[in-house]
This record gives sequence, structure tokens and C-alpha cells, in this order.
Amino acid sequence: MSHEEFPTENPAVVTCGLPYANGDLHVGHLRTYVGGDAFTRALRKLGQRTAFVSGSDMHGTPVAVNAWEEGVTPEEFALRHHEKYEETFPKFDIEFDHYGHTAEDTNVELTQRFVRELDEKGYVYEREIEVAWDPEEGQALPDRYVEGTCPYCGEHARGDECDEGCGRHLEPGEIEDPTSVITGNPAEYRTREHKFLRLSEFQDYLGEFIDRMEGTANAKNQPREWIEGELQDWCITRDMDWGIDYPGAEDLVLYVWVDAPIEYVSSTKQYTERVGSETFDWEQAWQESGELVHVIGRDIIQHHTVFWPAMLRGVEYQEPRSVMASGFVNLDGKGFSTSRNRAVWVDDYLDEGFDPDLYRYYITTGTGFQQDIDFSWEKFAERVNGELVGTLGNFLYRSLLFAHRNYGGTPEGEVSEEVRERIEGAMDEFREGVNDYSVRAVGQSAVKLAGFGNEYIQRHEPWNAEDPERAAVIRDCVQLSKAVAVLAEPIMPGMAERLWDQLDEKGSVHETALDGALDAPPTEFDAPDEPFEHIDEERVAELNEKLEAQIAAAGESEATDADGSEDARTDSEALADERIGFEAFQDLDVRVGEVVSAEGIDGADDLARLEVDLGLETRQIVAGIKQLHDLDGLAGERVVVLANIERTELFGVESNGMVLAAGDEADLLTTHSDSPPGTKIR
Ligand code: MSP
Ligand code: ZN
Repeated sequence: MSHEEFPTENPAVVTCGLPYANGDLHVGHLRTYVGGDAFTRALRKLGQRTAFVSGSDMHGTPVAVNAWEEGVTPEEFALRHHEKYEETFPKFDIEFDHYGHTAEDTNVELTQRFVRELDEKGYVYEREIEVAWDPEEGQALPDRYVEGTCPYCGEHARGDECDEGCGRHLEPGEIEDPTSVITGNPAEYRTREHKFLRLSEFQDYLGEFIDRMEGTANAKNQPREWIEGELQDWCITRDMDWGIDYPGAEDLVLYVWVDAPIEYVSSTKQYTERVGSETFDWEQAWQESGELVHVIGRDIIQHHTVFWPAMLRGVEYQEPRSVMASGFVNLDGKGFSTSRNRAVWVDDYLDEGFDPDLYRYYITTGTGFQQDIDFSWEKFAERVNGELVGTLGNFLYRSLLFAHRNYGGTPEGEVSEEVRERIEGAMDEFREGVNDYSVRAVGQSAVKLAGFGNEYIQRHEPWNAEDPERAAVIRDCVQLSKAVAVLAEPIMPGMAERLWDQLDEKGSVHETALDGALDAPPTEFDAPDEPFEHIDEERVAELNEKLEAQIAAAGESEATDADGSEDARTDSEALADERIGFEAFQDLDVRVGEVVSAEGIDGADDLARLEVDLGLETRQIVAGIKQLHDLDGLAGERVVVLANIERTELFGVESNGMVLAAGDEADLLTTHSDSPPGTKIR
């Protein structure tokens, strides 16, 4: 069975992977949400009835561990982040029809209903397994409460996912050499009864499903290995308090990956409750004939193409029509890292006063959706200045200014054959983009059309022509501008709406169907403004400096980050491409030091206060090494110190220098022989 092209008669639901309510959003996260929003807007332009839903992922160890580190309840912690996300998405024109959260009653009830039904149908059984246990704390260590080694690829892994290596989901007990993140002790094992979903029963079904599923190629191909191999049954319960109770077994909660995708349904249900089932019927969409499209990042493909479709099948719901899995956003060639503060935070972007459309455009059109994309302020400025200011802005501004000055608006007459065909071509690219799940093609249809406009204006030189020829060219340019507004709306809704008003169009471009691109524009409009501002080099330099300072400051307090969750969607760091001159190295005043004393800092989990003898003086230095070293044994040790780093203050203690250490384990650097304190390192 292959799917009918969009638009169809059926209701569509576009969902975005739920953000864990466990920290600030960075621009990497936005790839999922901008992608989903743009795709929804594009579907609507084709006339597809669509609900766009998501919500915050409140449960699970990603939230529990971070809340514990901050010393607050998971509920309070998660709600705070949920409210923040709810406020943030609209600032990027990400407009969900409903944005809920997984701890709401609707989702608790629906999740328990799903699970009861799966249980009644015989898809769930109980089995004894060995779970990781912290003997000191006397508690189980589910998922992110342990770290260890991936049994499949040997990389460092966290809890239930091999996040730095092969990306696999790991079942309880699978991680090797687990240590407790609470105490740092090696975990022991205890036998516990847990519930399992018989995934193996869905093996044949999933094999057929994946053949008809649409979306990006990575989402269709990657799961084959799992589905065609032997499908292990899936443990769906955890030993912890924070979560949705397993119905009838109150000492167990459901694994977060059970209740999280069900929020897609709950959120749609809440949307129906608000607008009425005549407008959008969640039951029809999820149980009868919906076009279900899941927009996610590539790290959670397995959950959306194996676990989730099996659950849907088990309760006889509709299956996903498509999964769009984005590549990752990296920062200057490396992964984002929450704990190292190596990230461009959504709030910081907005505080800089940048138009959200600029980033929306950058992220959707820079590469194909499934490719990784690099963010840097240089590249950002380059694309804004070139494509948005140079091509798009330039065309719109000069056309509309010329039209306004000479004709007070749109000159009379019909659009030419050539321009009509070119606009129809762009509309086809837009439609094909939607059906190929390519938000990039959708976005490019608009900017390419503006590029054509520039070429058209250049070719016809209306400023040298006389009427009626001049009027005809300008008439075409106004039509092209209007078409750009319609085509660009999914990607740059703010700019498109301003352009619409500028043309003195009625209503909103958001509500305008794709065909509206060819309707005649109003005859009168005012002088235009330039749609986007140029970003100059000094600004880029400033932004880079801020980012570097932010990362450097975190380097010193690394391990104290309240959000200790390393966003380990970090590939192992490549050797730096860019070379520096010897002079840059000479600027670093690196010295041999001798530790005089070392003690922990109250209230800071990982920080130690060191007195270090640098020959000419003894410095107080704060280092993130408390948990990794026996502090009492450090006095007398040689260390290597960057002496001329800016002074900073951590937990109220001044740090005047930086002790160098290797890797996550803060392996202290030392000297081979006994160079005396103060010796310069060259
Ligand atoms: N809560 C789960 C998803 C549950 S869906 C039923 C989760 N949360 S997350 O906060 O870690 O990620 C939220 C979304 O952002 C996911 O779609 C994820 O793939 C995406 N991304 C997180 N970091 C990203 C980048 N650096 N780059 C691109 N997408 C990223 O996973
Ligand atoms: Zn692995």
C-alpha cells in the first residue's frame, strides 16, 4: 500500500518529539520544532487539514536526575521547564494547536488505558531481571542513574542509550561496568520483577510497516537492522517514584518511552476538546484514517519506528504515515554540550534581538533535513547577508519601492506568461517538497523565485524603459513579490506576514492557500521597508567573543553545572582544523605548579579549592576535580596551570588560574621530572 499524495481528505497530525523538561532549550532542539512547524504550515497551504501537537516530556530519569542534582522535586523542576518552553515556542512562531505535558490527567488516563489494553490482549508479561542497584543509597538505578560501557560498540553509554557510540536503546541490565551517578560507586545488581512488551509478536508487522512508512531515508533504513534481526522484548517498567503508575502494580512506574509518545494522542485529544470534533476529530485521526507524521531528531528513530508503532498496533490505532528524522545541529563542527555550556541558547539568540525567521531559514534550508548541519555565527551572517538580505530582501525592496514611487502600488495589467509559468514552477517545487518531506525544498522555492526576480528586473531594466513596457515589468515584479510571501510563509512566517501587510493584502498570508500566489495584488500600497538587516563583521566578532567566554567560563565550573547532563549527542571531538600561530601559543602563560593544599567547597558537588605554589606566588584556584581525586593525597603533587586566564568566582570562591586536566575524568596533567614550581611551559 502506498500513500495518497498530500493533500488528502483525511485529518493529518504533525507531532514533534517532546522536549525533556530538564533544562534550557538550545538552537539544536529547534530543528525538530521549526521543522514540524514549517511542515505543518506547508501542508495547510496545500489545503490539508492538520493538527500540530507536542508537549513536554516530564517523566523519566533525564528529569529525575537533574531535579535531584538541583535539590528540588521532579514535579516542580519539570513544571518550571514546561512553562518556559510553552512561552518560548511562540517567540519562534512555532505555533502548536496544543502543547500539553505528559503528567497531565489526559495523558495519565490515556497511557493507563493503552497499557491495560496491551496487557489484556496478552502483549505484556512479567519477568525477573537483574537491575542496577546502589548499595550505599539502597535504591534501584534505572536508566540515567547509571553510566557504563555499551555492550554493542564499547563506547561510554548513559543508562538507556548509547549516546556517544552506536545510538542504540539499552535495556535494563545491558550496560556494562555500571557506576551509580549518585555516589560514583560501582553498581550492584538486584533481582526484580518487571513488565515486558512482547515486541517479538510484532516482528512481521513491523517488517511490513517499515516498507510502507514514508519520511526521510534515515528513518526508513536505520530500523531495518533492528526489525530484521531478532526483536528483543521491551522492558516497560522502572523502579522509581516519578512516572505514571503501572496500572495494578503501584510499586512500578512506566518507562518514560511508554507515556511520552502517547502524549501525541493526548495532546490531539485536548485540541479536539478545545475546538470541537467538527473542526478536528482526534479519534478519527488516531483510530480511523489519520495521516500521522512524526518530526524528530535522528537519535530517537528506533523509538518512533519500532516501539511506538508496535504499541499503536497493539491497541489497534492508526500507524504512522511518516517519520521525518532530522540530522543534528552542531556548533562550529562539534556537538552541543549542555554541561560545557557549548551551545547557542534560544534565549540568548532572542536577547541578541535577531529575527526568529533568520534562524528558521538557516536551519531549514542549509542542508537536507536528515543531514547534520553546522551552526556558527560566521555562517549565519554569511547566509543572512547573502541569501536573505542580498537576494530576497534586495528583490522585494527594489521592486516594491519602484512600484510605489511610480504607480502608488501595482500597475494595471496582467502578469506575463513567462512570470506566471515561473511562479507555477515554484508552486510545483513547493508541493513536491511537501510530498518528499523536504522542508528545504519548500523554503528554496521562495528564495529561488526571488533570485529569478532579481535576474528578471536586471534583464528588463525598468528604470530605462517607458510605459507601457515599464509598467508591465513592474506588474510582474509585484506578482513575484506576492508569490514569495505565500511560498515563504512556512519557513519565515514573520517576514511573510509583514510583506503581506506591506502589499496591503487582506487577511493573513498564513490563511492564504498556495494558489493565492497567482491572485492579483492590491492596486495601492505604501513605501516598503527592507525585510531584513545586514549583520556586519564586528557584530559577528562580538558574538563569537561572547560564545567563547561562555564556554571558557563553563570549562572552569564544568562539573558543577546543575544540568550535569552532558548532551552527549557529541561525536568524539575531531582534531581542530584551524591552525594557530606560535604567537597565539606564547600568549598562554602555562606554568608548573605544586599543590599546597586541596579541599572541597561546601555546596558544590565537584569543586575543590586548591592552593597552588607557582614559584613567585601561591594562587587560590578552583578546579572541578572533587569527585575524581583523593583531595587529601594531592598536596605536594606537580600540576600544570594556565596562569593568565581571567579571574573568576565559583560558588563565592575566587579562582585565579586554571589547573589543566584531560578529559571527562579530569585526569590532572603533571610533569615527567621534577621541574620546580613556576617553570614556564613552552
Ligand atoms: N523526550 C525525548 C523525546 C520523546 S518523543 C515521544 C527527547 N527529548 S530531548 O529534549 O532530548 O530532545 C527533543 C528533540 O530535540 C528531539 O527530537 C531530539 O532529537 C532533538 N534534538 C536535541 N538535540 C539536538 C541537536 N543538537 N540537533 C538536532 N536535534 C536535537 O529526546
Ligand atoms: Zn553503542
